[in-house]
Amino acid sequence: MHTIEICVGSSCFVKGSNELVELLKKYLEEHDLEDKVQMKGAFCMGQCSKGLGVRVDGKLLEGVTLMNAIEKIENELNMII
Ligand code: FES
Repeated sequence: MHTIEICVGSSCFVKGSNELVELLKKYLEEHDLEDKVQMKGAFCMGQCSKGLGVRVDGKLLEGVTLMNAIEKIENELNMII
């Protein structure tokens, strides 16, 4: 089981982390990944000034925004699944 952590800290919430959770839920459903990938909330990852805090299997992704998040997560998943 792989894990995607999404920061639910206040700065990321303002930037749309709750919307990202919904987008990601849909993505995992559409790609039949629900039994391979789990989603978790996490505390601040120190990315507040750079973008949204997202970790895939413990690896912090850089420069994540609501617009590019799914693409960045997909790239990362393609490398590990
Ligand atoms: S609040 Fe999300 S990285 Fe700081």
